[in-house]
Amino acid sequence: MSNKAIKFAYLSQEELIEAGTFNLKMAIEAVKTGLLKFKDNRILFPDKIVQIFNEETQERINCLPATLLDERICGVKWVSCFPPNPIRFGTQNLCAVIVLSSIVNGYPVCVMDGTLCSNMRVASMGAIAADKLAKKDSASIGFIGAGEQAKMHLLGMKSVRPNLKICRVAAKYADEEKSFIETMEKIIPDMDFVACNTILEDAIRDSDIIVTATSTQAPLLKAEWIKKGAFYSHIGGWEDEYKVVQLADKIVCDDWETVKHRTQTLSRCYKEGIIKDEDIYGNIVDILDGTIPGRENDDEFIYFNAVGLAYADISIAYAMYKHAIEQGFGRELALQETMIFDKDLTGKVVL
Ligand SMILES: NC(=O)c1ccc[n+]([C@@H]2O[C@H](COP(=O)([O-])OP(=O)(O)OC[C@H]3O[C@@H](n4cnc5c(N)ncnc54)[C@H](O)[C@@H]3O)[C@@H](O)[C@H]2O)c1
Repeated sequence: MSNKAIKFAYLSQEELIEAGTFNLKMAIEAVKTGLLKFKDNRILFPDKIVQIFNEETQERINCLPATLLDERICGVKWVSCFPPNPIRFGTQNLCAVIVLSSIVNGYPVCVMDGTLCSNMRVASMGAIAADKLAKKDSASIGFIGAGEQAKMHLLGMKSVRPNLKICRVAAKYADEEKSFIETMEKIIPDMDFVACNTILEDAIRDSDIIVTATSTQAPLLKAEWIKKGAFYSHIGGWEDEYKVVQLADKIVCDDWETVKHRTQTLSRCYKEGIIKDEDIYGNIVDILDGTIPGRENDDEFIYFNAVGLAYADISIAYAMYKHAIEQGFGRELALQETMIFDKDLTGKVVL
């Protein structure tokens, strides 16, 4: 073997979990660091590339790069979003692969599952926001939507609000609520779960933390259901009536400039002139670094919307990679053993 070999670690989702990287606290710390470093210009974050294959269903594959300058790591998330998958094939909507490369020599260091990382990123961002914006004594959480994001969000919220005791869940079909509860009660045994039998209002009324994570585009969440002092994490597209936005005492985003050009409720309100730039309280990083305060009293209704910042994914992926390697995981794969013309190519070149 020559020193011209290029090798990288391969980490499947199962290996990442076995290595102990399904760790919301670790992911939350990685996202916080990423947010602060991006604000400090220590992260390169070019535009994502989007390829849409079906305008109606929004089946797409996106390519999202980011570079962590201090860690000398450039990463890319290659992520598919195929909303019809659950109904068409009975399989998950999202699937992601992450490649991490060294910016010392440009070579890949890791190819890894990115679905776990990606879903933990969504939950971590919501959890960071909840930590600053949800009431300290929040005891109940209500979900509209019982899919992959909802499950992960519950873990994120529980990790920053360990006193959460009641989880109510409403989805399009009652059997989804049942399966959400069967899965989650094994992971969070100290929580009482309530299936709302598709009655969305029942999941929301009286909940200190509200989460919508649906695959539909409709104003499902109603302003009149919202409890005083609630914190709302909006995950999907158009999921709440405009009155919910208008009810908010504070609207906080992961990055408003990114959010406002998308298609979820806040972006729709912006495009229709219902809210203006000055109605946005701030970005979560400005609360994290103390530039502006988070929640200021127990009565505020606070609305949080994150649409995803790929440097947060790459920050988590790098933390997962390092931890997995320290634990002895990561199958080493060779991309090449030697350079092309160092090999014996006799009879192997086709002209
Ligand atoms: N903000 C982000 O950064 C981010 C990241 C990833 C995914 N997402 C979005 O999160 C959403 C959820 O993704 P997922 O992977 O959990 O999807 P999923 O298919 O696993 O779950 C979707 C849920 O929506 C529910 N739903 C659909 N229509 C409904 C209705 N009319 N009433 C009540 N519930 C309804 C379904 O019952 C299901 O429980 C998607 O819109 C996805 O694009 C956002």
